[in-house]
Amino acid sequence: MQAVQFDRFGSPDVLGVRSAPEPHPGPGEVRIAVRTSAVSPVDLALRAGESPSRDSLALPHIPGVDAAGVIDELGEGVEGFAIGDEVFGAVDVARLGGASAQFAVLAFWAVKPAALSWEEAGAAGTSVETATRALDLLGVREEMDTTLLIDGATGGVGSIALQLAVARGARVVGTGRPGSEEFLSGLGATPLPYGPGLPERVRALGISRVDRALDVAGAGSLDELISLTNGPQSVVTLADFTGPSREVRLSLGQFGGQPDGRHGLAVAADLAEKGLFHVPVQAVFPASQAAEAHAAAGTGPRRGKTVIDLTALTPGL
Ligand SMILES: NC(=O)c1ccc[n+]([C@@H]2O[C@H](COP(=O)([O-])OP(=O)(O)OC[C@H]3O[C@@H](n4cnc5c(N)ncnc54)[C@H](OP(=O)(O)O)[C@@H]3O)[C@@H](O)[C@H]2O)c1
Repeated sequence: MQAVQFDRFGSPDVLGVRSAPEPHPGPGEVRIAVRTSAVSPVDLALRAGESPSRDSLALPHIPGVDAAGVIDELGEGVEGFAIGDEVFGAVDVARLGGASAQFAVLAFWAVKPAALSWEEAGAAGTSVETATRALDLLGVREEMDTTLLIDGATGGVGSIALQLAVARGARVVGTGRPGSEEFLSGLGATPLPYGPGLPERVRALGISRVDRALDVAGAGSLDELISLTNGPQSVVTLADFTGPSREVRLSLGQFGGQPDGRHGLAVAADLAEKGLFHVPVQAVFPASQAAEAHAAAGTGPRRGKTVIDLTALTPGL
């Protein structure tokens, strides 16, 4: 098969489309003919050789943790899905390889709703899982009447966490750089500039209490988020490794045996069908421009996801 790959660590120009062995699903997995994939921060770190898993990463490596496509092989024991089903989900990169290829094996997935385009669906898997996991950990539930602050709300995970929190009945304050106000309010949040001084700016908005805070950005705001809420137990970080030293929960990944947010994919699909959820897509690149896609995904301002369209790799798709 043809796949986007890199055979050495480095800047985006190490990426190219080359041939690779086809993957096949193991028990409980499905293989898809991939239509779209996406670029996530973990892809950028792996490619640059800046990931902790650098030494264990087999090269050449196919990037991409999210994908959408059509099931063409079923692993043993998979029930409720058939060859030909349109699905979206995510790969387990460490075990199964990446998704920016003609074929990818999904570790978890849900039916692609008609309301999500292929571009949206191919970018949703890990961001929906991560956002769902974080909101579950924070206890954001419909009956709770929660005010939630999301720091780093305009990127891939933040823009999705924001919508899923609104769907759970939360009032959301979302931080972004100046100029992101319209984007954030369009997703249902009260916009707030990011950077030091969050408590003062929250008070200036007339918001009297913040019940929970989600740090997506990992930009050093944890002490302010703790002071805004009623303590570290009300804060979760996805990206700040100093969290545990402050008694803030650091939630890392869906493959670590901890409760995960995979159930969120079907929830997001249902919300999309009701017009209550979409995946903000900042840009779409063909596979031949994977290097440009990586360069764009690593550059702010971020407004949702960067997508790679793989359809040109399979003539007739
Ligand atoms: N723990 C997990 O399970 C998990 C899963 C997925 C991702 N992550 C991590 O979560 C982080 C975010 O992922 P993502 O996909 O959302 O990345 P992304 O799309 O690149 O978004 C990053 C966001 O952070 C914002 N930001 C930049 N500087 C900031 C600051 N000083 N204060 C507040 N916000 C700031 C960006 O805004 P501008 O672009 O406007 O500056 C953007 O909205 C990454 O570190 C990623 O590795 C963790």
